[in-house]
Amino acid sequence: MTLYPKLILDALTQVKYPGSGQNIVEAGMVDDNLRIDGMKVSFSIIFPKNPDPFQKSVVKAAEAAIHTFAAKEAEVSISVDYKKDNSQQTTDNSQWSMVNNQCKVIAVSSGKGGVGKSTVAANLAVALAKLGYRVGLLDADVFGPSIPTMFDLEDYRPMGEMVGDHQLIVPAEKWGVKILSIGFFVKPEQATVWRGPMASNALKQLITEANWGELDYFIIDTPPGTSDIHLTLMQTLSITGAVIVSTPQKVALADARKGVDMYQNDKINIPILGLVENMAWFTPAELPDNKYYIFGRDGVKQLAESLGLRLLGQIPLVQSVCESGDQGQPITLDPATPVAQAFLSLASTLTYLAK
Ligand SMILES: Nc1ncnc2c1ncn2[C@@H]1O[C@H](COP(=O)(O)OP(=O)(O)OP(=O)(O)O)[C@@H](O)[C@H]1O
Ligand SMILES: [Mg+2]
Repeated sequence: MTLYPKLILDALTQVKYPGSGQNIVEAGMVDDNLRIDGMKVSFSIIFPKNPDPFQKSVVKAAEAAIHTFAAKEAEVSISVDYKKDNSQQTTDNSQWSMVNNQCKVIAVSSGKGGVGKSTVAANLAVALAKLGYRVGLLDADVFGPSIPTMFDLEDYRPMGEMVGDHQLIVPAEKWGVKILSIGFFVKPEQATVWRGPMASNALKQLITEANWGELDYFIIDTPPGTSDIHLTLMQTLSITGAVIVSTPQKVALADARKGVDMYQNDKINIPILGLVENMAWFTPAELPDNKYYIFGRDGVKQLAESLGLRLLGQIPLVQSVCESGDQGQPITLDPATPVAQAFLSLASTLTYLAK
């Protein structure tokens, strides 16, 4: 049994605050200091006024909800806090809040390496920004970060900034997307020698000790396969849903299934928003209407059907996608191209799914 923030928050939605009739998550009463350490769970509930007649009963109900809906054996420790005055709230808001309900966290994953996760994550982030959303992009591929190259940010070195009494990392900002990657802190050849726990801690820091500000979408480019890094992400963040990227050939499909299983197993239970078929067909630049199904036709579409999942989009294999990635100019910046259209439509599909 593994505890992670979403499980706890889902359990807490069962608790109503009698003062407003809303559940305590919806009412913004669960503080962002939620911590999980093995089976230990601690957080504060923020009450609007002091004293509050409902305080005791809400805390009891929250404990009971976690035991009933998350884990019987959880050791729950809840402290009580009261709404602070406005000046203090500005400080709190400017920090990343993992229980900030407005921000949708989307993990882009695959079972197999090299199928286009980073390409999809980068273009999805740019597409959402183009649609007017506030977007953060986290490169969680600590052992092989590629987001710095895809955004032409290989030389970016993040600075620190004092917010209240916290020193926070300042994300890069490009084309309306706030970006952090381990690649900003280490040389690529160093990243591979990291030990697991060190990588996990560094990743946590990029999430919780960075000045992400207020975001509508937080896109995570995850490493290939299923790893400790995925577990760290699930334990540090409340992931709204996962997008699984695959190419249509059989070997990739088998791995895509593993990617789906990682999120869907009953311990983790993170919704799969759907599958993306990348390199769905090849279209040569000089014959833009021709489609060559070099990896097989509709493999991901059929997998989606057999798993009862949604096919979110099909992205063709086009030389310019690869070139634009290498040049640090995601293809979606040029909305005239059919691939950019495919990414924009993927983004708008996700905006109504990830609610
Ligand atoms: N639709 C596409 N058309 C052409 N090239 C593509 C397409 N999608 C991805 N590529 C290229 O394929 C290569 C692998 O893509 P990418 O780095 O996005 O995959 P990944 O799944 O993130 O890989 P890794 O598992 O190593 O993190 C890159 O060079 C990228 O530019
Ligand atoms: Mg990648």
